[in-house]
Amino acid sequence: MIQEQNTVADLFQQITNFPSTKSGQNRLVYSAAWLKGQELLIKFALQANLQVAVDDYGSVYLDLVGTQADQVIATGSHMDTVKNGGRLDGLYGVLGGLQAILDLQQKYGQPVKTLRLISFCEEEGSRFNATFSGSKHYTGVSETTDLVDDYGIRIEEARAQAVTKLQQLSGVIRKLPQLPESFTELHIEQGMRLEKQGLSLGLVSGITGQRRYQLLVTGITNHAGTTLMSERHDALLNAIQLISRLQQLAQAVNPNLTFTIGSFAVWPNTSNVIPGKVEFSLDCRYPDEQVLNIFEKLMRNAATEIADPEIKVRIENWVHDQPVILDQKLLAANQRLAQKMGYQTMTMVSGAGHDSAIMSQRVPTTMIFVPSIKGISHAPAEATKKEDLARGVRFLAAALHREAY
Ligand code: HGY
Ligand code: MN
Ligand code: MN
Repeated sequence: MIQEQNTVADLFQQITNFPSTKSGQNRLVYSAAWLKGQELLIKFALQANLQVAVDDYGSVYLDLVGTQADQVIATGSHMDTVKNGGRLDGLYGVLGGLQAILDLQQKYGQPVKTLRLISFCEEEGSRFNATFSGSKHYTGVSETTDLVDDYGIRIEEARAQAVTKLQQLSGVIRKLPQLPESFTELHIEQGMRLEKQGLSLGLVSGITGQRRYQLLVTGITNHAGTTLMSERHDALLNAIQLISRLQQLAQAVNPNLTFTIGSFAVWPNTSNVIPGKVEFSLDCRYPDEQVLNIFEKLMRNAATEIADPEIKVRIENWVHDQPVILDQKLLAANQRLAQKMGYQTMTMVSGAGHDSAIMSQRVPTTMIFVPSIKGISHAPAEATKKEDLARGVRFLAAALHREAY
């Protein structure tokens, strides 16, 4: 029986249903689900006669080689997800980009410039405390090493194991390809602005600045029954007071400064023991570096103002991404293209971080957004209307056609 040619929609189902779970996506970098996703993408690309390269971090590069092969126009996004995440964040840009390239090949044949689809290995920072490791490696911005996950597995070990499997697939070239002339990322908005305006396409002018911290509050572990309230050095109660103080400060600095405590751990986390240690994450974002500086200063001061000398607070900053202005020429070209195609668009700054923030440090970069239903993202309920997904791919294809044919 001739095997039905897999469609990109089939590939989307195969990737998002592995392992089949009712809950969200957990394609954490170098995990089994992540490896499956990159493997399925590679096998699909080889069947479609695209050239496949995998670099030593596990990012996958699919090339539709042009007549001027070494001139490259790229699109793509990230294969990894947050924990219990949605089906579209990252993967829509990977598979939507692949679909756009295949549609162009079918309609116009070989491009002049090589069209490259990139599936970056990791963007979210969900398994190891580091973000954008794939695009940082590809652009030479920085390397991501010496990290362990929650189970003590070293990133180098997890990376070597997973990437070797990808690079050993027949037809795959082990290579870090040269940088492209431009990069366009198709992504869901992950917010409500497009939906509220009744628009189906967003053109991104910039990306917000973001900082992520780990705060460790230590006190003295003790007995819940025999320790008088006046004798306690309770790490949890002090952490709660510190968090509410920081939230007030964030609001006071700027009501649009986003402030998120996403992860929280208590030790020993037992009902009859006064906690001696609490660790929590703090994610704050704003499109102006000055505002983030002011808040960070106030946060560090607040940590030293805790009255109890037995309570210690350690603050570790592990993400410091400057706000980014994306390429104005590509933005203007996309605004003109949208007009020509009769698409109403909104120009906007992204509240989410993206690989485009890293790519834009080395090559002209732009982003295209499609609406998120109810603005939900980083959750299993993440969704976008089919016609909006399709329109995003059509628009991306038209933009790539302008660049590469
Ligand atoms: O957290 C973010 O903004 C992105 O989804 N990595
Ligand atoms: Mn994300
Ligand atoms: Mn993303």
